[in-house]
Amino acid sequence: MSLKNTQTIKVDELRTLLENKTPIRVLDIRPQEEREEWKIVESEFVDVYHQLKSGTKNLFSDHKFSPDIPVVTVCGAGKTSMIAMKQLREKGVEAYSLEGGMREWTKAWNTAQTKDNNGTTIIQIRRTGKGCLSYILENNGEVIIIDPSLTSEVYSTIATKNNWDIKYIIDTHIHADHFSRGRQLADKENAMLFLPNQNIVNYAFNAINQNTTFEFGKATLKAIHTPGHTHESYCYLLDNQALFSGDTLFTSGVGRPDLKATTEVARKKSSLLYQSLQKLLALDNTLAIYPGHISNPVAFDDQLISGTLGDIKNKVQILQLSEKEFIDNLLQNIPETPPNYEEIVKLNIKGTAKEADLIELEAGANRCAIS
Ligand SMILES: [Fe+2]
Repeated sequence: MSLKNTQTIKVDELRTLLENKTPIRVLDIRPQEEREEWKIVESEFVDVYHQLKSGTKNLFSDHKFSPDIPVVTVCGAGKTSMIAMKQLREKGVEAYSLEGGMREWTKAWNTAQTKDNNGTTIIQIRRTGKGCLSYILENNGEVIIIDPSLTSEVYSTIATKNNWDIKYIIDTHIHADHFSRGRQLADKENAMLFLPNQNIVNYAFNAINQNTTFEFGKATLKAIHTPGHTHESYCYLLDNQALFSGDTLFTSGVGRPDLKATTEVARKKSSLLYQSLQKLLALDNTLAIYPGHISNPVAFDDQLISGTLGDIKNKVQILQLSEKEFIDNLLQNIPETPPNYEEIVKLNIKGTAKEADLIELEAGANRCAIS
């Protein structure tokens, strides 16, 4: 690594090393319970946190390290990992501390990609530190981006590198777990911003309705209204080959219907979600389903998070229930309310936010799904 003069490594540097499969050891020194909430998949747990905090020396004396493989220490916010890094350096190990720790890691991402039978390239951009999935779809040099959740540079750089033209930017719904970067990206790329038709956001956008279709290159993306998770939720069908299912259908569960809702409203939204899912389940079983989120950190493994509609139908038992059973089951299994969702929705309504303020707001596990 070209980092030898520094004691720390930035999120983007570590992300790039993992993406390039550069040999590296990532030591997670946080307490076990924090690791259970969210982690870097490629990291290993080292049970030293409380001893580091109490000033114990030589904590790594029993650990073996290869001289050729640098080590990165990770904690919650990048402070205790500095102490671990120094102890490792005293032992002669080439060690770095991850700047900002797991709090900052919420910005980390990786990709996986495929090409469909119509020649459309599908790049899944996985915000591994958070679980948000966004998509770049390209056909004949023209691009649609779905649910951008990372800074504009991430998407712009990929498009520029391939000489692609970003034509449309669309969201599946008004998000409650991350700030949508759609508006900023549309401004930067001079692209058209489309959002589901609603009167919630306070800025100008082109409205998506039940009959909206997007043409890009030789490909067509068709909007399907799927209320339930939120009233304005849409899914997008790509040439009868793939479905971008937002927070309506996941590979192992369905969207939660409850945020900002009383029990009565949550019941009604659950019924809407059931009807929307019936609409999706009637589509071709061979469709590849690409969801908007995943509830676990995503490995740097180049493997798409996806499944065929037929497989998901068989695997996700809640999809096999009657409407009444579905609603009862959903309402009994509502996960913990995600932190800061009201603040995040406010920012999405406003359409502007400072990246520095978003680190704290967006930190933490994704809790959009019920499985
Ligand atoms: Fe959502």
